[in-house]
Amino acid sequence: MCGIVGYIGSRQAFPILMKGLYRLEYRGYDSAGIALLNGDLKLYKTKGKVADLEKFVFGKDITGTVGIAHTRWATHGEPNNVNAHPHFSQSRNLAIIHNGIIENYLALKKELISRGYKFESDTDTEVLIHLIDDIRNNEGVTLDEAVRIALNEVVGAYAIAIISKNDPDMLVAARKGSPLVVGIGIDEFFLASDAAPIVEHTKEVIYLNDEEIVCIRRGEQIKIKTIKNKNKTPYSQKLEMNLSEIEKGGFDHFMLKEIYEQPRSILDSMRGRLNARQGKVKLGGIIDYEQKMANAQRIIIVACGTSWHAGLVGEYLFEDLARIPVEVEYASEFRYRNPIITEDDIVIAISQSGETADTLAAIELAKSKGATIIGICNVVGSSIARATHAGSYTHAGPEIGVASTKAFTAQVTILTLMALRLAQMRGTIKKTRFYQILNELESIPDKVSETLKIDTKIKELASLFIGTRNFLYLGRGYNFPVAMEGALKLKEISYIHAEGYPAAEMKHGPIALIDQEMPVVVIATNKGTYDKVISNIQEVKARRGIIIAIVTKGDVAVKDLADYIIEVPETEELLVPLLATIPLQLLSYHIAVGRNCNVDQPRNLAKSVTVE
Ligand code: M6R
Repeated sequence: MCGIVGYIGSRQAFPILMKGLYRLEYRGYDSAGIALLNGDLKLYKTKGKVADLEKFVFGKDITGTVGIAHTRWATHGEPNNVNAHPHFSQSRNLAIIHNGIIENYLALKKELISRGYKFESDTDTEVLIHLIDDIRNNEGVTLDEAVRIALNEVVGAYAIAIISKNDPDMLVAARKGSPLVVGIGIDEFFLASDAAPIVEHTKEVIYLNDEEIVCIRRGEQIKIKTIKNKNKTPYSQKLEMNLSEIEKGGFDHFMLKEIYEQPRSILDSMRGRLNARQGKVKLGGIIDYEQKMANAQRIIIVACGTSWHAGLVGEYLFEDLARIPVEVEYASEFRYRNPIITEDDIVIAISQSGETADTLAAIELAKSKGATIIGICNVVGSSIARATHAGSYTHAGPEIGVASTKAFTAQVTILTLMALRLAQMRGTIKKTRFYQILNELESIPDKVSETLKIDTKIKELASLFIGTRNFLYLGRGYNFPVAMEGALKLKEISYIHAEGYPAAEMKHGPIALIDQEMPVVVIATNKGTYDKVISNIQEVKARRGIIIAIVTKGDVAVKDLADYIIEVPETEELLVPLLATIPLQLLSYHIAVGRNCNVDQPRNLAKSVTVE
């Protein structure tokens, strides 16, 4: 949550920082601000989006070759002009931006108030800058040393950047729990929450580790030390990302672009890992741990939101193919219910961003109990990727729309490969069946392309439901998580209330909601439970509910019953989630667009949830 950007070099900082803010806006977008050094320390901030900040600074002095900028997702204090970042120190010599939460801010604030500090905002961040200022003034130390001392008093998560009127050639930044990347250009440096604002300037980056402070001085090599005052050698890496991956590429929204990218992103997540002809599944990242996984008595999957839905699909896959019992846990609940975890357990953590605080906390807990942690992450080098013992990247490419789409199908693809590999190792799958599934998996990207062709039809269908207030999504077996994911997608971007249920559960409560105004999306592709799903559809029809059915191409029985039909190509039942999800993503997208919602930046949400 919150995006931070910094620049120090010979160019004007303002355009670089503004562009960087636009690129990071998906991380939070309730207010934005910028601080620039040019003799004086100028600070401009406003409630609203980055575009509002751009309007706000029009005609003002925006010169300066050093600066920091922030786009906020409010935690402490409502989104308004005062709570927006950056924040000044009392002396107005320092400015800070922050992503994260200072958990002990109240105690620190009390102490600072007793020492005469006045607070303008309700934020936890302002506490930090007053503390740094206080240490600097009282102990006569350099800014980076004051930052280091202050961070030793802080409990919580932070990625911070600070500039000082008294040290105009310096930018200090630090991280713990929230991501921070430094870009190294020629005689210039960039700082950002992720690589998106940096990639067009340089491909050489340093990912800061937790509890590291970076001191960037104009014209000097950067220096990194820990908050325990240990010098670290900066380790730079080459960015793999391309600019085109983080631009809309002609689509109206990132979400639509990302939906359309799925044939490629699924292919990329299988690339080099699947060879159907040779009957090979190889996940290089977990090779040292796969025997342990194959011997596991139990797998626990921890994740949040869409990644949790992928985890549910994983549960079906691991149990079905590899015959290993699986528990799927909301990462946020796992930590607080004293779970029983042993050294024999395999914990799979799934996360697109690799920064989700609840998932990270669940990993730390499981690790402390001796479990083996396997990650499935999209963002390379992210905190979760680094916190796990081993893992597989999804390689879906940057996902910028807040609603997760291509990350979900890539996660499901990796889970399918893992389950197949473990099944092969455990001998729980017949060779012919194994080859059959591998062959079908290889054809999935093409079938996703085929599924995408129904977009125009779905757009027409969506136009009928723009004013609808509630939706129900039903599915059974592998399609139950798909129903949940479909409902989440709709509610988060269109603000229509939607629930996903196992189809048979409907009669235990939700059926009370059904009347002639209630659309019920039924994923009716299952072979095993087809007749039962038809019965569920009958139950809805008997109460005059509106049926939108996702069916396999050529279906007859459901077609006769449903009000609206969306066809997906035929595939193996266990691979249906990779196809049936696509029309649900498109349906949500077109309904949200029809309702004039901000599809890529839905209200109250942010892309990576780095607070618990
Ligand atoms: O980055 P992660 O996969 O860990 O994020 C988990 C959830 O916050 C995320 O999936 C969220 O539910 C999305 N907005 C769903 O579209």
